Amino acid sequence: MAQTSLGEYERDSMSNIGPSIIAKLNRRLFAQPNHPLSIVKTHIHAYFQPLSFALFDHFDPVVSVKQNFDDLCFPPDHPGRRPSDSYFINNHTLLRTHMTANEGEFLRAGHRSFLIAGDVYRRDQIDATHYPVFHQLEGVRVFRDDEIHESNKEGESPFTQHAIKYDHESQPAFNQAALRTVTDSLYHTLNGLMRHLFGPDVPIRWQTCYFPFTCPSFEIEVFYRGRWVEVCGSGVLQQSILQENGLRERNAWAFGLGLERLAMILFDIPDIRLFWSEDERFLSQFRAGQINTRFQPFSKYPACWRDLSFWIGDGAEFDEMGLYDLIREHGQDLVEDVQLVSESHECLCFYYL
Ligand code: DAH
Repeated sequence: MAQTSLGEYERDSMSNIGPSIIAKLNRRLFAQPNHPLSIVKTHIHAYFQPLSFALFDHFDPVVSVKQNFDDLCFPPDHPGRRPSDSYFINNHTLLRTHMTANEGEFLRAGHRSFLIAGDVYRRDQIDATHYPVFHQLEGVRVFRDDEIHESNKEGESPFTQHAIKYDHESQPAFNQAALRTVTDSLYHTLNGLMRHLFGPDVPIRWQTCYFPFTCPSFEIEVFYRGRWVEVCGSGVLQQSILQENGLRERNAWAFGLGLERLAMILFDIPDIRLFWSEDERFLSQFRAGQINTRFQPFSKYPACWRDLSFWIGDGAEFDEMGLYDLIREHGQDLVEDVQLVSESHECLCFYYL
């Protein structure tokens, strides 16, 4: 992949990308086979390879607002479209906020079963599980007509009946046999993936939810080390999206998952900043192909808390994400956590670690 450079883009009043984000653009953590994110990505690909899914993982995170939001049916007032939530290069270009933004180009290029993995960018709070750059893996499977089975029996997934009712309200053109086939396939494929990742006996819970680009939509949770953890979003792709990408009368499912979240669970990594570490004491603990590593903490320095309070001028608006970016620019990855501890009508007090 060519280096990502923002130099060629015009800036305008929406531009909000600072040096600490620019510095992350070409780090390409996937290029290191022993990096925990590469290990998890490769392990997921190993599950999908026998199902003939191709993996693509080196392409530019710069996308248009159209690709990231409009083409995926995001409503005009969706919070992700605001500069307080996303990193804009200018009014119509941004750093993708999710890998779903690249689905369309792979569909148009003729791919029908594929995984796409890469870096995504979101303005966020500062704590051990949030970082403004993280990695997602997205999967898509398009069905041919001869793969859709008419069936008199009820669908196998507990959602099939629900999905059919639900979907007829919002996508009346949907054919019931197609919806049943696609939902059942999604259910089996992702349950299999969860067992591949977390072991054969892991309890798995599916919930219906909302994503603008899928209908019906589901979230998958696994019960791992004593708690339910949400690990994956998925659903049946909106037919309008398939049509826009030249796939009239076709059906497809899609899913997306966060690789840091999975790696933190699988390897017991307590802090998301560690994925960016170049410290051998971190990197040397992981080996390509080994999914059972348990991270051993190595820092001998105790945490150190500071507090910070400030006043905001009368009538001025407080830009919370702006404060987090400012702290990251100056404190870099030394700052682990920032919490608002008290707020009066004119004073905000933050605690940081
Ligand atoms: N793009 C979603 C996110 O970033 C994740 C997702 C949900 C991807 C459902 C999908 C999907 O493909 O079908 O939160």
